[in-house]
Amino acid sequence: MPSVSSLFWAAYPLLLIAFIYQIGLPNFIVQPITESNTFNTVWKLFATTHCYASVATLKSDLPQAQCFSVSNGKFTRVFRDEVSEGIQKLERPRTGHVIPGLWDGHGHLVQYGELLDSVDLFGADSMQEVQQRLIEYKKGRPEAGTKKQWLRGVGWDQANFNGNWPVADDLEVDSSFKDLYVMLDRVDVHCIWVSESVLSLLPKDIDDIPGGEIPARGVFCDNAMDVVLEHYEKPSKEQKTTFVKNAMLELNKLGIVGMHDAGVTPNELRLYEELSETSDWNVRVNAMVECDVRNTFCPDAVKQVVTLDGKFQVRSVKLFGDGALGSWGSAMIEPYTDKSSSSGSLLVNASTLSSLTLDWAKEGYQVNIHAIGDLANRHAIDAFEAALKELCPDGNLRKCQDKHRFRIEHAQIIHPDDQRRMADLGIIPSIQPTHATSDMGYAESRLGVNRTKTEAYRMRSLLPLRPVLGSDFPVEPPNILEGIYAAMTRRSPRTGLDPSGGKAGWYPEETISLTEALKGFTLNPAYGAHLEGKAGVIDVGAYADWVVLDEPLESMDIEALLTATVRETWVGGKRVYKRA
Ligand SMILES: *[C@@H]1O[C@H](CO)[C@@H](O)[C@H](O)[C@H]1NC(C)=O
Ligand SMILES: *[C@@H]1O[C@H](CO)[C@@H](O)[C@H](O)[C@H]1NC(C)=O
Ligand SMILES: [Zn+2]
Repeated sequence: MPSVSSLFWAAYPLLLIAFIYQIGLPNFIVQPITESNTFNTVWKLFATTHCYASVATLKSDLPQAQCFSVSNGKFTRVFRDEVSEGIQKLERPRTGHVIPGLWDGHGHLVQYGELLDSVDLFGADSMQEVQQRLIEYKKGRPEAGTKKQWLRGVGWDQANFNGNWPVADDLEVDSSFKDLYVMLDRVDVHCIWVSESVLSLLPKDIDDIPGGEIPARGVFCDNAMDVVLEHYEKPSKEQKTTFVKNAMLELNKLGIVGMHDAGVTPNELRLYEELSETSDWNVRVNAMVECDVRNTFCPDAVKQVVTLDGKFQVRSVKLFGDGALGSWGSAMIEPYTDKSSSSGSLLVNASTLSSLTLDWAKEGYQVNIHAIGDLANRHAIDAFEAALKELCPDGNLRKCQDKHRFRIEHAQIIHPDDQRRMADLGIIPSIQPTHATSDMGYAESRLGVNRTKTEAYRMRSLLPLRPVLGSDFPVEPPNILEGIYAAMTRRSPRTGLDPSGGKAGWYPEETISLTEALKGFTLNPAYGAHLEGKAGVIDVGAYADWVVLDEPLESMDIEALLTATVRETWVGGKRVYKRA
């Protein structure tokens, strides 16, 4: 009997061709197959057929299937029924229910990894508990707390300290904390609490800071945080590498196979490109360029990238229109209902936003503008409309937009007139359903009933625009099942309740269906990243990314989404996570 290797080399030219065209070999070559067939042993290296109890493909002409074949990281066939034995290597048993690999349409990879590497203070209900967690964390990390590598944490809340602000002194937890550099983010990441060593770096007297507050010795809120952050040594390349790796491991556990990274600096882009060639890089990343100075034009500092295996791409840029609603930072057409002296602030004026949009689009970049308030959203739409008119003088703006795919990140509060303009132009909204449920407690006091009802946190109203859904991790947890829950119920995934404490949901007319929510985390992020047909679907030619669940998603009770976990996650035909 000829050896495997000689057969392999005999078949090599043919296999090479199959590789190059990324297709499976025609079946007649390998049929019939018996276990002892050596050719099949070789063939198994290249093609595998997987069968499950059900496969929800999101492919329009074959929504339900049972098996699919994978070769060279892509789907090569999808079978409606169970395939008969022996076409190719067959993976069994037929348990588990498959959906396409999930995408988060707006997150922050490095920052999420950094969060994973910090002290978890969420739910710590006393100062003693906070101090206990700090001691535990420090035990395993001798390097944490040096001047170069501050000890970081997140999740404290003064409500758990009898309403008293913490002070720097509270961080002299025990002898192991003496002289450590410690910086802990409040639960909403709008305040930081720092140690005496950090304070020693700052000027003795700090003037009043517009938009900032220092409510206690060692606590800095909003714009006042900059006074401290100026002295904070950014994580090194090695640390960032660890952050990315850990973040990807966690995301894979949640069934996430891809994400849109909403703001990556030129240096980080170079690191990503390098890391994307390593075997730890198991989440596809569509990175948006963020220049070192926000809202500038820096095409020479970056380059467009689309890797062959689809693990990494750079073809979009992020611009920033305004701030957040919680801190009255989002730019509004009319003043805030609960702060009539303010209508928020723009981070860039309308003319600069328009010229930046046009400049980047002419360089071939998709432009994604962060806009929360209705004024910022209006400016974003103005900028897109002007750019489309300039880019496509034939006047077919809708077709032009299909090419450029301009997006609004957050798209939270949009005047009804501008919702219509978005619909006419086809501008893509990038929405975080859990932001709506996190903000619903105070949104109406900021905006008043009328604006909340007609403008805020639209979802169903924007459905024809194929909204890209995401979590904005680490601002919200990255669990997509929670995002789906929030989108379907408009109730908090944490409590299961709406702001009135009931189960009706917050403005339930803006809920969306399970299928629409699932599309928001699969097909729509693919379209929103020029990846339609390649991601978010189980179809011939698409990346072989899928998730195995215990039950079909559509037969799950809504409340069960909150406790469900993923059984397996596959990226490019490789299993990257299996539940223990
Ligand atoms: C917009 O901002 C730019 C840059 O800050 C400035 O040069 C320009 O004069 C501003 N334009 C208007 C109309 O305010
Ligand atoms: C309600 O809000 C819409 C959109 O902002 C506005 O056009 C309308 O005039 C408002 N109606 C009232 C009664 O304030
Ligand atoms: Zn973000």
